[in-house]
Amino acid sequence: MEPLLAIEDLRTYFINKDVQVRAVDGIDLTVYPRQIVCIVGESGCGKSMTSLSIMRLVPKPRGQIVSGKIKFAGKDLVQLTEQQMSDIRGNEISMIFQEPMTALNPVLRVGEQITEVLIRHRKIGKREAMKRAVEMLRVVGVPRADEIVSEYPHQLSGGMRQRVMIAMAMVCDPKLLIADEPTTALDVTVQAQVLELMKRMRDDFGTAIILITHDLGVVAEMADHVVVMYAGQVVESVGADELFAHPLHPYTKGLMASIPSLDDEAEKLYSIPGTVPDAREFPVGCRFADRCPLVQTSCRERPPELREIRPGHLVRCGLV
Ligand SMILES: Nc1ncnc2c1ncn2[C@@H]1O[C@H](COP(=O)(O)OP(=O)(O)OP(=O)(O)O)[C@@H](O)[C@H]1O
Ligand SMILES: [Mg+2]
Repeated sequence: MEPLLAIEDLRTYFINKDVQVRAVDGIDLTVYPRQIVCIVGESGCGKSMTSLSIMRLVPKPRGQIVSGKIKFAGKDLVQLTEQQMSDIRGNEISMIFQEPMTALNPVLRVGEQITEVLIRHRKIGKREAMKRAVEMLRVVGVPRADEIVSEYPHQLSGGMRQRVMIAMAMVCDPKLLIADEPTTALDVTVQAQVLELMKRMRDDFGTAIILITHDLGVVAEMADHVVVMYAGQVVESVGADELFAHPLHPYTKGLMASIPSLDDEAEKLYSIPGTVPDAREFPVGCRFADRCPLVQTSCRERPPELREIRPGHLVRCGLV
């Protein structure tokens, strides 16, 4: 099958005079139609910058895609003009942000925000767009959808706002949905409902999803494929079942050991020692070396390549 999205050696840096923050530093990522790909990794490893690069919403002027390709449905998004890109955004690719208030316009009623997307991309009339907005809100489980369309975002609860944002992201039936920590700010029941909803979008509409999360529980629940990022790079990329059965990279193993378990309450929760290296000056060798329990001298000498260790299982570690 042809991939829907194929990112090749993407580099997105923040450049300020002679300082370069290498937020995304040579990643490859492939998403097939209907696939749910989870990106995991600690804070600062480049997950959001990866998704903003796909949307071409990297904060300007310092943030720049410096090299690489983002092939989507036969086009390289990196090469598109702003106009061409805005035809794709919200239409073929849409995004759900962690904090809904950043994506929703506080001075527009819920209905107007959703219809705006439809009128723009689908060229349909106001009345029909409003009908479709109400339908979409019902699909995402908003009660009293016909009344909610006349309300402002601040009148809604956090969970309802999140649903409105999902409705907005889904209303044009995108081929790819990017969800950056979509449930972190929600309580667990609402979180489960929102995840269930995204799964249904995939099942019913065939939407491919990139789901960014800190939470390996969410990964276990949702992912077909998992990409583990560390310090701007992919360190492991593998099918979800295989990841949980045979994690190979020491960093992935560390993340897994950090999952709280219900049975051993008495035990101290494990956390990976140390912190992510500074993205302005990554070490020459393995970027995880300073925190790795298996580190050897050779690890610090040259950067490990991302290699296929078993069929479909890529790992960036010289020791596995
Ligand atoms: N506007 C900015 N200017 C300079 N550097 C930035 C900017 N935004 C992000 N960065 C840097 O880019 C790197 C990647 O950040 P990114 O936001 O992608 O991390 P993340 O994996 O999404 O983290 P989190 O889990 O906290 O959301 C970090 O080193 C961060 O400090
Ligand atoms: Mg982020």
